[in-house]
Amino acid sequence: MGVDVILGLQWGDEGKGKIVDVLANNYDLVARFQGGPNAGHTLKFDGKKFVLHTIPSGIFREGLLNLIGNGVVIDPITLKKEIQILKDANVDYMDRLLVSKKAHLILPSHRLLDAASEHAKGKEKIGSTLKGIGPTYMDKTGRNGLRVGDLFEPDFKEKYNNLKEKHLGLAKLYGEYSFDIEGEEQKWFDSLAELKSLQCVDGEYYVNRLLKEGKKVLAEGAQGSMLDVDFGTYPFVTSSNTITSGVCNGLGIAPQKIKEVIGISKAYCTRVGGGPFPTELFDAVGEEIQKEGGEFGATTGRPRRCGWLDVPQLRYTIMINGVTQLVLTKVDVLNIFDSFKYASHYVNPDGSMTKDLPFDLCNDSQTVKLEEVKGWKTSLDGVTNKEAMPAALKDYLELLEKELECKISIVSTGPERDKIIHMN
Ligand code: GDP
Ligand code: IMO
Ligand code: MG
Repeated sequence: MGVDVILGLQWGDEGKGKIVDVLANNYDLVARFQGGPNAGHTLKFDGKKFVLHTIPSGIFREGLLNLIGNGVVIDPITLKKEIQILKDANVDYMDRLLVSKKAHLILPSHRLLDAASEHAKGKEKIGSTLKGIGPTYMDKTGRNGLRVGDLFEPDFKEKYNNLKEKHLGLAKLYGEYSFDIEGEEQKWFDSLAELKSLQCVDGEYYVNRLLKEGKKVLAEGAQGSMLDVDFGTYPFVTSSNTITSGVCNGLGIAPQKIKEVIGISKAYCTRVGGGPFPTELFDAVGEEIQKEGGEFGATTGRPRRCGWLDVPQLRYTIMINGVTQLVLTKVDVLNIFDSFKYASHYVNPDGSMTKDLPFDLCNDSQTVKLEEVKGWKTSLDGVTNKEAMPAALKDYLELLEKELECKISIVSTGPERDKIIHMN
C-alpha cells in the first residue's frame, strides 16, 4: 500500500516520537531510516514516559513490526539499554523488532573521534551529541565501516581491531584527549549478544515484500530537515539525510512507493547545539518558552535554545520534503502569551525582503521580519476537535496554512498520546 513518512521540519525534537506513536496503529511496520542514538524520541501514555534512541516509536503497539533500517547507525551499548527498558516494561519486543544487516555499527573509537574532534574545534564546535554519529557515517561513505551483518562473520574481531587501530591513529591528530577505550570496548562487546539475538534481516527485501503484500509502512525520521547534511545549516548539521529522500536510501525502497509525507513542526522553534538560529530569543520570553515547553534535550539533557516560528524556514523544508500534511505540536506552550510572533520574511542587507532562505544562515547581516499574532490565553485541556478550539487558535492555524501553502492535519496540545486534535 506504500510508505508514509513522518519527519521533523525544524532542528529536531519537534515531537516526532509522539506523533509516530499516535499514528502507528494505522500501519503494519514502523521503520527508522537514518540517524542513530543522537535521536531522543519521547512517548507518554498510561502515565508512563519512554525515550527511544534507536528503536522505532511503534514498538509499544502490539501486532506492529518495527525495523531499524540500513540507513541507521547503531551503538550496541545504547541499544542494549533501550531493550532493557522494554524488558522492564514487559514489552514483547522479540517478535516485533527487526534490524537491517546493512545498518552500520558505531564503535567506541567512533565516539572517541567525535569527542576529540569537537574538543579540537573549541568555540567552533558543532555541539554534537558525542554519540559517534559523524565518524561512523564518515567510515560508511569512506568504505571502512562495519555493519550488523559483519557481526556473524568469522573475521569480525580482526576487522574490528583494524578499524579501531586506524581510529586510534587518527585520534592522535586531534592532540591529547582522554577516553577510556578499554572500558568502553568491554561494554561494547558485552552488548553484542543482545544485538545478535534480534532478528537481523535483509531489510530492503523485508520492506519490499511487505509492500507487495499490500502492507502499510511508516518511515520515522530522526533529527530535522535543518540538520540535513545537504540542506541544513551546514556545517552545523548531522551527518545523514534527514529529509524524505533519505527514506529511499535508508530503507531500500523506490521513490514512487512514498505516499504521504507528514511534516512535524513545533508552534515555535528550538535548536540544541551550535549553529545559526535566526528567530532565537535571548530574553525572558525565550526562557518562558523553555520553561513552559520543558525544552531540555531528551538525549543529552542540554537546554534547548528557543525562538519564534520561522515561516521562510518552514516553507523551505516543506518544499524539499514534498510535505503533504503538516502536524503542529506544542501549541499548548503558547497558551501563556497575550500575543506571540513569527518570522514572515528574511531581510536582505539592502533592506529588500524575501521568503527564500539565504545560502548561509550564519550570515549575521541577514535578519528576519517578525509579525505579531493575538494569543488565545486559555488552556487547551479538553479541546479535542477543531470546533472547540479558541477562535484565536483557529485564526493562527488558518494563517499558517496560507503562508505555508500546506494543510495542517493534526494539532498536538500536550505530551500525552491523547492530547491530539485531528483537523479533518
Ligand atoms: P522528537 O525527537 O521529535 O521525538 O521530540 P522529543 O521527544 O525530543 O521532544 C519533544 C518533547 O515535547 C518531548 O518531551 C515530548 O513529550 C513533548 N511533546 C510532544 N508533543 C507535545 C505537545 O503537543 N505539547 C507539549 N507540551 N509537549 C509535547
Ligand atoms: P531527534 O531525532 C535535536 C544536533 C546536535 C548537534 C548536531 C550534530 O531527537 O530530533 P550529531 O550528534 O548528530 O553529530 O549532532 O545535531 N542533533 C539533534 N538536535 N534533535 C535530535 O534528534 C538531534 N540529533 C542531533 O545537537 O547540534
Ligand atoms: Mg528528540
